[in-house]
Amino acid sequence: MKPNPGGIITGEAIVDRDQEIYSIWKALQNQSVVLTSERRVGKTSVLRKMFENPQNGWLPILYLVEGKYHPIEFVEGLYELFLENDVLKGKFHKLKTFYTKYVGGEQVGSWKLPQIKENWKTLLDSMIEDIISTDKKVLLMLDKLPLMLSHFIKSEVCGPQVCMEFLDTLREIRNRFEPTKKIGFIFCGSIGIHLIIKDLKRNYAYNADPINNMKIVTLSGMNPSGARLLCEKLSEDENYQFDDKGKIYEYICKSTDNLPFYIQHVFALINDLQKNKINEKLVDELIDYLLNDPKDEGFFNHYIDRIKTYYDKDIQDIALLILDKACKQEDYWKEEDILNTVKSFMEIDDETIKVTINLLWSDHYLIRIVKGYKRSYKFKYLILKKWWKVNRG
Ligand SMILES: Nc1ncnc2c1ncn2[C@@H]1O[C@H](COP(=O)(O)OP(=O)(O)O)[C@@H](O)[C@H]1O
Ligand SMILES: [Mg+2]
Repeated sequence: MKPNPGGIITGEAIVDRDQEIYSIWKALQNQSVVLTSERRVGKTSVLRKMFENPQNGWLPILYLVEGKYHPIEFVEGLYELFLENDVLKGKFHKLKTFYTKYVGGEQVGSWKLPQIKENWKTLLDSMIEDIISTDKKVLLMLDKLPLMLSHFIKSEVCGPQVCMEFLDTLREIRNRFEPTKKIGFIFCGSIGIHLIIKDLKRNYAYNADPINNMKIVTLSGMNPSGARLLCEKLSEDENYQFDDKGKIYEYICKSTDNLPFYIQHVFALINDLQKNKINEKLVDELIDYLLNDPKDEGFFNHYIDRIKTYYDKDIQDIALLILDKACKQEDYWKEEDILNTVKSFMEIDDETIKVTINLLWSDHYLIRIVKGYKRSYKFKYLILKKWWKVNRG
């Protein structure tokens, strides 16, 4: 198998993740799921593998929603996917009744007409009712949902009010129809839907909790056997000579935190550089190359952009300062030392720093341990810690 870091992978190329996929199917028997992680950890690949191998009678619909700027565009895209996936063979009775009522014509045509746009809620509702009336069990996998929501908030044709209405509508649909066990949802995305909701609560007086009854599944690196299998597959068609194959695979997996995107990068570089003698020294060089790459093919800058884009202004600097210092710590860093360090650089109260630490922790920048009621933190991913040290430390 040829390496394909960052590309669309399908079928056999999606290696392992069986454990994670099993726990998502299991959760779906009782509730809908939020699938979250940083970018390029492998969420879409997990969704695609589920789409290709449905379980428990589900009919999965994989819907990439990032290009939508208003709920009506979401509704239109969903309608097209339902047709494409033969969910209802075009017999949308309820939807068509309303559509006809609003435009006067028989055919479902343009979704851009103002009278259609302003009635997106009824149209979405009636389309879901049509789906429920079939014998299908539809699993709606909404990939990049948080990105679409942030488009809604920023878009002139939409804005925060409509975004909140959209979230509430999704929640109503879930409350009404999930108990029938004929529809389920996976909300998937990397920004973290909690940041969007927090923004709406803080800045626009939003007071609902649209995901509190969903199961949150966080994706991280692969488990060791999956990561190793990926190494095997990426070298099977090649003539590589390893010092000690098992040890080198282990070394690659350790150096990449078992993240498939970086494992793919390592093998892509081996390929590009036409290396065939593979030892730990070469692996170190390739990782260094990724960390030093001005084109940032490892997409590490995303970890900074995310803070600058989605964190409140008053805590961005604190978050970056904490990470700039944390990358130099040998081991776990005590919370009280973090507080003191930050206060030595800026005038700030403990509470704000604690909120920031908590956010970095819930956003997977940091992991923590608690010993004797004392909290300590360190970078979750070693490869990100190294990148931080090389580029910002
Ligand atoms: N299960 C997997 N097997 C092989 N490669 C993977 C797997 N998951 C992710 N990758 C690699 O990581 C890249 C990013 O994965 P993707 O699923 O698009 O991540 P996300 O949706 O979280 O941003 C893929 O293009 C591929 O190179
Ligand atoms: Mg994705």
